[in-house]
Amino acid sequence: NEIKIFCPATIANISCGFDVLGVALDSVGDEMVVRKTSEKGIRITKLQGQDLPMETLKNVAGVAGLALLESSDSQYGFEIEIYKNIKAGSGIGSSAASSTGAVWAMNELLDKPFSTIELVKFAMEGERLASGVAHADNVAPALFGGFTLVRSYEPLDIIPIPSPEELFATVIHPQIEVKTSDSRKILKTNITLKDGIKQWGNVGGLVAGLYTNDYDLIGRSLEDHIVEPIRSILIPEFDKVKSEAIASGALGCGISGSGPSIFALSRREKIARKVADSMKEVYKNVGIDYEIHVSKIN
Ligand code: HSE
Repeated sequence: NEIKIFCPATIANISCGFDVLGVALDSVGDEMVVRKTSEKGIRITKLQGQDLPMETLKNVAGVAGLALLESSDSQYGFEIEIYKNIKAGSGIGSSAASSTGAVWAMNELLDKPFSTIELVKFAMEGERLASGVAHADNVAPALFGGFTLVRSYEPLDIIPIPSPEELFATVIHPQIEVKTSDSRKILKTNITLKDGIKQWGNVGGLVAGLYTNDYDLIGRSLEDHIVEPIRSILIPEFDKVKSEAIASGALGCGISGSGPSIFALSRREKIARKVADSMKEVYKNVGIDYEIHVSKIN
């Protein structure tokens, strides 16, 4: 009647795939304890690590959980304890970790009435609360694991994508908070055909590289001519961190989700750690606090 789970952090967008590509990080995430109760509804009974609302309707786990309950004929309710390691507004899917954790655990405790794609839909309601838009590029990889592509939103079509054995992610979080809702507001809603051509070429290239273990192709495809030039303005030392990461051997580097975290992908852990050192150095030199993670991609 009770389950304790790990809820992974995620990198959304992966440079070229705004709102469609994402990947789960196996070694960075929150923990949750979810308990089935005879009292109906959802109650957040504990929330540690971050200052976030505990009212069910104001909490992403609460809202995602309610979406699941409304679609089920469950006679039960749930109590949720959330232990956050992922900071809100860090750009590594803090809200997605909580939304997906809630619905995944509830589904287990109800003997799995829902498919993973249905869980994605419920968790997207948490994202709608957090950012104003029910984007799926964090919740899909959190639920499926590894890389995922949102091929279509209507109807929702999620494609899990394999990844090469030696792929590692480095993620650095300069300790400022950027709300996804704010960093979406500054984006333009139109793109030129020229930029579209570059972007979909890269999305195709990245997916092909992941399927064929072609690290060079993965690296060449990690470009974003649409969102990064605008959002990078909100991120301290973005250009310097990126150029140092590439100089240290990263395949590519870009903004993690809506920022301010910056991610790099590397072939082999040794390089991912070297990349981490060079990224840290940039922030150390200017006195900006940071948190950094290296994670294997599975
Ligand atoms: N695709 C979303 C965005 C991810 O970039 O706004 C937010 O984590």
